[in-house]
This record gives sequence, structure tokens and C-alpha cells, in this order.
Amino acid sequence: MKYVIGVDLGTSAVKVLLVDPAGTVRAEASEPYPLLQPQSGYSEQNPEDWVTGTFAALRRLLSESGVPAASVEGLSFSGQMHGLVLLDEERRVLRNAILWNDTRTTAECREIEAALGDELLAIAKNRALEGFTLPKLLWVKKHEPELYRQADVFLLPKDYLRYRLTGELALDLSDAAGTLLLDVAGARWSGRICAAVGVDPALCPPLVAPTAQTGALLADAASAAGLAAGTRVFAGGADNACGAIGAGILSAGESLVSVGTSGVVLAYEADGGTADYGGRLHLFNHGKPDAYYAMGVTLAAGYSLQWFKETVAPDIGFDRLLAPAADVPAGAGGLLFTPYLVGERTPHADANIRASFIGLDGSHRLPHMTRAVLEGITFSLRESVDILRAAGCAITSLVSIGGGAKNEMWLQMQADIFDADIVKLESEQGPGMGAAMLAAVGCGWFASLEECAGVFLKRVAVYRPQAEEVETYARLYEVYKRVYEQTREMNEALAPFRAGLGS
Ligand code: XUL
Repeated sequence: MKYVIGVDLGTSAVKVLLVDPAGTVRAEASEPYPLLQPQSGYSEQNPEDWVTGTFAALRRLLSESGVPAASVEGLSFSGQMHGLVLLDEERRVLRNAILWNDTRTTAECREIEAALGDELLAIAKNRALEGFTLPKLLWVKKHEPELYRQADVFLLPKDYLRYRLTGELALDLSDAAGTLLLDVAGARWSGRICAAVGVDPALCPPLVAPTAQTGALLADAASAAGLAAGTRVFAGGADNACGAIGAGILSAGESLVSVGTSGVVLAYEADGGTADYGGRLHLFNHGKPDAYYAMGVTLAAGYSLQWFKETVAPDIGFDRLLAPAADVPAGAGGLLFTPYLVGERTPHADANIRASFIGLDGSHRLPHMTRAVLEGITFSLRESVDILRAAGCAITSLVSIGGGAKNEMWLQMQADIFDADIVKLESEQGPGMGAAMLAAVGCGWFASLEECAGVFLKRVAVYRPQAEEVETYARLYEVYKRVYEQTREMNEALAPFRAGLGS
């Protein structure tokens, strides 16, 4: 039997999947690593933790499955987007990576907008948002000039990991789109953006397609990972692009909802040159050649639930936390949660907003709060669904992947809050599965991602909207949407008090 491996380099952990030619996940392993939050608004990771975590997960994957290393034909990657990894000439990491959910760069975003005006949206297809890579690069240039002077090249998280496995520098198009340095429709680095903001284009690594082979496993890396030297390595893509591949979002009219640390609603776009959401959604290159996707992002989706559990119920597992919330009726007894724990992207693009519970009553108990957290995350995602619908995408059905697809109650809640069918796949591991599919196509098992999806992806259930719940949620959603405006000023006034926070 032959296999491919999908490596999903996430924010809380790296997950590796061993997949056979029928698309069956034969084994999986995962290794967590810490998120460093030295100050409120800061979010960093040590790239070395990604490398050691991936080696450990791969070793376990192989040893526990009993699969011989030689039968793994190739591997590829899905990666958390936007994170800045800076390397010097000797290819040493210059500082911790600054991640997608770090919001320290509001000033740099305004500077980028001032330097480029409307050209930014015309070229990069996106507004300047704190999470993207270019503002981080400019932050280092301004605040750590000595480090910036030593920088020879930047990479994104999975591209650094791949570099350590193969010794080859490359950045795939789908992740490059999230840097704000890419001419998205032209699929090349934008000399115009580099010049306008004062970034040397030589800092940008070579661009490759997600299915391109980018070297092979070096002997050292292979031995640390328990794999065979020379195993073929394919570029891979941004986690959301890989999520789209792993959910089969490969043609017009298809869309997904994904809950990882962040939450995403994403729709396929055939033409990146003409799609125009006025910057209200992100528009990025897909993992499929010459295709794009539009997407809205909730910064703290799975993270809200994880924060809630760790803070309020640290001693029980997720299953025990979630089960009683299924007995609470839609609306959580009048309790609303807004998931703005680390600020928000879509639709508010506001680094200062923070989360709220609104309507706490003396009779609310843990299950009400848990349900309110799930509903609040889902209401936030509904705001992205609304932007897509307003732009003419029908969104009558979404494939659900990630944490939100592991729980029946949450799947039904998505159907009721979005008022759309929610499709569950056999494997909810969208990004990791998408990475495995890129390797399978790269290895020549299939002629295209579509052909691979036809074999690998199986729809196992559809959750349909229930009229009564749809109506209840529609009324609550109107209240939910008012919380942002009504708490915005209060949260700005509270910002100075967060200065001492950090962990
Ligand atoms: C997308 C984004 C997040 C990360 C999570 O723009 O910032 O979804 O990719 O890994």
C-alpha cells in the first residue's frame, strides 16, 4: 500500500494525517505547542516548536500505524496564515514569529493605506489588516531596526517548516496572497507595493504553486521524523485554501464554514480580477490553480470555546462541557456572547473591541453560558455569510469542517443560524486533508484536485434548518449585531487597563 501525509501546522498544534489512495485516514497524530502572549494584543510562537512538534508527531504517526517509511510517497502542508518568520543570511530565525491573531500593527496598517490609497485594494485585493504579514514586517522595521537590518528573507509558518525539512526556500501562492505584498490577480510579488512602503523586494522568497514539488526530505530531517530520506515534498497551501480543497470547494457556488482557532466562512471565486467585495471580505488565491476564494474571518472562534473551558471549566473535557448545552433551548435563555476576545476582523476590523456576555441572569448556569459561547461564535460567522449573500452568492448550503463539525448540536446550530443546509463530511479534517490531497495530486495519483476530491471526500450527513429555531435565532441575531456598536466606545476606554495583561 502507498500513502501520503498531510501536515496541518495550526495555531494550537500540528496535526499529521496518513492517508491512503482511497482517501481513508489510516492514522493521525498531533503535538501541541505554546502560544506566547507577552502583552495584550501580542501573539507569537517559536518556530523551533513547530519543527520539533512536527518531527514528534510524524514519528508517532509512523510508529503507531506500523506503516513502513518507504511506503510514504510524499507529503505536503497546510499552514496557519500570515505569520512572519524572519531569517538572516545564514538562515537563522531572527525573532519569534508574529502570528495572524496578533493585533499590534494598527499604526502600520494606516501607514500602508496612506502610502497606497485605492491601489492597495486594486493590487492586493485586500484592506490592510493587523493580521497580515506586511504590517508585521513594517512593525519590525520600525521597532526592531537592528533585527530588520539583518533580515535576508521572510517566510510564512509552513514554509519555514518545509524549509527545515528540505533546505529549499519557497512560498506558495495561496499563502503569499495573505502577505499583502502579492499582486493577487497577476500571481506575482508587487514591486509597486514594495516600493510604496519601503520594503526591499529581495526579502520576498520565490513563489511556487501549491502542488509544486519543492525538494525532498533531507537525510537529517527524515531521520528525526522517522521517514525515508528523499521522500517527495510538495509546497502546500494556506490553511483556509487547504480547508477549501479538503472540503471539496473547487467550483463556483460552493462554500464552507470552518472552526479552528479562528473561524471562517469561505466561498469559491472563479475570477480574482473581477471579484469585488470592497475589502469587506478577504480575497485570496485558492490552492487550485488560477482560482480564488472570498472569506470572512472571526478571530476567536474555537479559541473562544477553548478560553471559556480553560477559564470556567478547566477540569472537564469538551464532551462533558458541550453535552448539557444541548438541553438548553436556542437562545441560551436570553444570554448573548460576542467572541471578540482578541479583537475582530469580519465585519468590524477592530483591534480594540473585546468580548461580552450580555444578559446574564441569576438562574443561568454553565450549560447556558456554553451554549451562548457556541451561538455567539456562530452569529459572528453569520455576519460573513450575510456579506457574501449581499454580494450575490446564494449560500444555501455550506460544508462544515473543523471543531464545529465534530459536534451534532453545533452542526444543527449552524444550519439554524445560517438558515442554510450544513453538510458533514466523513473526515472533518479539512486543512490536513487538503494538504494530503495536494501531495496525492503532486505524486501523480490523480490528474487534478477535482479528481482527487471525487475519491477522497465523502458527504455523510446534511443538517437542515428547523423553522422554529431559524425564527428564534433571526430575532436574537438582530440583538447580537447591536452589541458591537454599543460596546465599542466602552472597550476603547478600557484599552489602557489591558496594558499590564500578558501570559
Ligand atoms: C485567515 C486567518 C486565520 C488563520 C488561522 O486570514 O488569519 O484563519 O489562517 O490559521
